[in-house]
Amino acid sequence: MNNLKAAWPAICDFSITLDLPPSRWQHAWSTHELSAKRLFQAIRWQRPDVIVETGTFEGLGTYTMAKAVQENGGGRIFTIDYDGDPDVSIPMEDWLQLRKFREENLQLARDTFPKVEINFLNGDSRKMLPAVFPAKLDRWDFFFQDSMHFTSGILEEWEIMKPYARPGSVVVFDDVCLDWKKLPRHLLGQKDFCLNFALGDGLAGGWNYQSTAEGRAQFWAQKG
Ligand SMILES: C[S@@+](CC[C@H](N)C(=O)[O-])C[C@H]1O[C@@H](n2cnc3c(N)ncnc32)[C@H](O)[C@@H]1O
Repeated sequence: MNNLKAAWPAICDFSITLDLPPSRWQHAWSTHELSAKRLFQAIRWQRPDVIVETGTFEGLGTYTMAKAVQENGGGRIFTIDYDGDPDVSIPMEDWLQLRKFREENLQLARDTFPKVEINFLNGDSRKMLPAVFPAKLDRWDFFFQDSMHFTSGILEEWEIMKPYARPGSVVVFDDVCLDWKKLPRHLLGQKDFCLNFALGDGLAGGWNYQSTAEGRAQFWAQKG
């Protein structure tokens, strides 16, 4: 079952228990329980070697993926964040507290899942991704795009990443969804990303896609 569409019901099987560390920061931006389960199931199904995440935040999405990679037998995660966000203004002391939680959770993931190589890259994804591809990595298998949620920011990352996808690679864009009527109010401005993707990469580029509003709204796609 290599196809995302065929695997989708199994990816959305929420009957598992994940047992994740708690979210501790003041803003609840961490992955939703249902989205974490989807992420875990997808990585168990796809068995990626190279995973890239933009937007590590507290490291709970990373922890979830590492748990699945450990059960797969091993793999590599490259996750990117920095003490800031181009879309939000928050005092530096709060970002530094977030960094402390992130470092603790990433260390816990490294200790708990020793078969997983977890690489944290400190910096703006738009600068870090071009430093990774192609100098350190020539392809990715699974890309969790969860940093910027505004269309121009998502597209900036996507244009860097797309050339390094292989047939079968899976990308998850977080906080966007094709059915804009189901999007939370604060994300309504981002509705055009998925439509543009469906018409461009979907129709012309051979990417199959799935859209969901369950848990965090997400748009998933797989290179054909
Ligand atoms: C929604 S949170 C990520 C949640 C996490 N992936 C999870 O599953 O729990 C978004 C994170 O992306 C970071 N971020 C936003 N824009 C970024 C950028 N251009 N480069 C790197 N990190 C960014 C924010 O600081 C924040 O920590």
